[in-house]
Amino acid sequence: MQQTLVIVKPDGVQRQLVGNILSRFERKGIKVVGLRLLSVSQKQASTLYSVHKGKPFYDSLMKFITSGPVCVMCLEGPRAIAVVRKLMGKTFGYDAEPGTIRGDLGLSKSFNLIHGSDSAESAKRELPIFFEKSDLVSYELPDDRWIFDAREDVEEAV
Ligand code: RTP
Ligand code: MG
Repeated sequence: MQQTLVIVKPDGVQRQLVGNILSRFERKGIKVVGLRLLSVSQKQASTLYSVHKGKPFYDSLMKFITSGPVCVMCLEGPRAIAVVRKLMGKTFGYDAEPGTIRGDLGLSKSFNLIHGSDSAESAKRELPIFFEKSDLVSYELPDDRWIFDAREDVEEAV
């Protein structure tokens, strides 16, 4: 199983889309193992976006992510990192395919509703910015055995 960081960004919280976005992951069979509403600090933002430092959009990205409450989630499932990125859609709302979160719910470049870790390395680096190990809950769901066939191959946990 993999774990990945998802953030419903300030635009998603202000537009009251947290439930809509979360339910898409739930319907897919991905499990919520950590969930918090919080304001991102400057320190958390600069760690999260350290890879973008120096890019033209860095300052506005920092301003945006710290501009209001966000909902951070640790999501778990087989191949969860790639699956979440697919459900998110392409980075800019106007480019993203219908059926995806960004494709269905937004039009903007910067107000693109959601962040998702883009690799196992990113997830490993990003999750501790918002979650202690003890914040994450391990539990079984009755549907787990119907969501995923345990005989299938799954890549190593993050
Ligand atoms: P995210 O990190 O938020 O999950 O999004 P992503 O992987 O699809 O996109 P990434 O390339 O990592 O960019 C991070 C965020 O920066 C903003 N951005 N603006 N040219 C631009 O104006 C531009 N490029 C990127 C977006 O908010 C993007 O989500
Ligand atoms: Mg990214």
